Amino acid sequence: MSDFTTDFWGYYIGAIALAGIVWCVWLLFSQRAFLKSSKAAPGGQVDDTGHVWDGDLRELNNPLPRWWMWMYLLSCVFALGYLVLYPGLGKVQGWLGWSSTGALAAQQDQLREQVQPLYARFEDMEIPAIADDAQAREIGQRLFLNNCAQCHGSDARGSKGFPNLADGDWLYGSSPDIIRESIAKGRHGIMPPFGEQLDSRAVGDVTQYVRSLSGLAADPIKAARGRADFRANCAACHGVEGKGNPLLGAPNLTDKVWLYGSSAAVIAETITKGRNNQMPAHEDVFTPQQIRLLTAYVWGLTRPAEEAK
Ligand code: HEC
Ligand code: HEC
Repeated sequence: MSDFTTDFWGYYIGAIALAGIVWCVWLLFSQRAFLKSSKAAPGGQVDDTGHVWDGDLRELNNPLPRWWMWMYLLSCVFALGYLVLYPGLGKVQGWLGWSSTGALAAQQDQLREQVQPLYARFEDMEIPAIADDAQAREIGQRLFLNNCAQCHGSDARGSKGFPNLADGDWLYGSSPDIIRESIAKGRHGIMPPFGEQLDSRAVGDVTQYVRSLSGLAADPIKAARGRADFRANCAACHGVEGKGNPLLGAPNLTDKVWLYGSSAAVIAETITKGRNNQMPAHEDVFTPQQIRLLTAYVWGLTRPAEEAK
């Protein structure tokens, strides 16, 4: 009930709930009065209402059984008691102070306590050791599939705009601390649009230069012209050599790994319109232990490749 911006709706709902119960009690007594006034006829004969259907089908007017009446009244009393104990009358919290949010939090706490021993084992372990642990990998993978796969793919290989986490190439860095930060705090990669500063010819030239950086087929004349524009506009973030800057999440443009694609059209689109890419923060979704296991899982995805190097 605390979701409403004015008190009005609290009173409105409370009034409807109470009026409903009063109405039920009134209904019972109004009918009793009616029944009394049309008592059973003497000689045990039951009075009838005077309604007749199909020629001889009479509607009788039997008095309500006592047990039924008491059940009815008891249910009204129960309803009142319930409204005293639990929230139901608009903003009134109820004596027990129960709330569905509180109940959920209690359940979650209980669940956390139950799984705590499972995570406790990894408390003092370094990330590489956790990544080596089969049980930790299993938990990490389940967390990943449930919370990360919708963006990064179930094999963590990503898709257009969603980085591949299994290729050993990182926007922000490969160390466990940085991966942990990406997961806990989220990331926001912003590439400003250059559609205003650069005319379409200049965009085409820079595009060719960017393609040449990773050895893709490029028009040498345009690429040579684009080089100056790149140094003036792009080097601040992507570096003079185009090797990127992990502090900004600016991708390395020389490594043949593409977040959006390597075609001239896609690169020109990035330059003209810019990019605004966000990874949501997860520190409120997970416990710190869960983030540790996820970090180890993601870090472990590419470690074999690193060791092989
Ligand atoms: C809503 C989509 C979405 C979800 C869900 C999501 N991510 Fe991301 N993630 C992204 C995007 C987009 C980026 C790239 C951000 C950027 O370009 O700056 C990213 C970046 C990352 C990075 C940094 C990659 C690098 O190259 O440095 C890591 C690590 C990561 N995500 C891990 C995870 C994990 C683990 C989860 C699950 C807990 C997760 N992500 C859930 C969209 C998502
Ligand atoms: C303010 C910093 C900044 C500047 C200046 C900048 N970029 Fe970027 N650029 C980024 C970031 C950050 C991303 C990653 C966006 C994301 O995470 O989605 C990016 C992405 C890109 C991509 C996509 C790479 C891929 O893997 O698909 C290309 C291409 C690119 N920039 C080229 C350029 C060019 C060319 C210029 C100069 C005209 C330029 N950038 C200027 C920060 C910058």
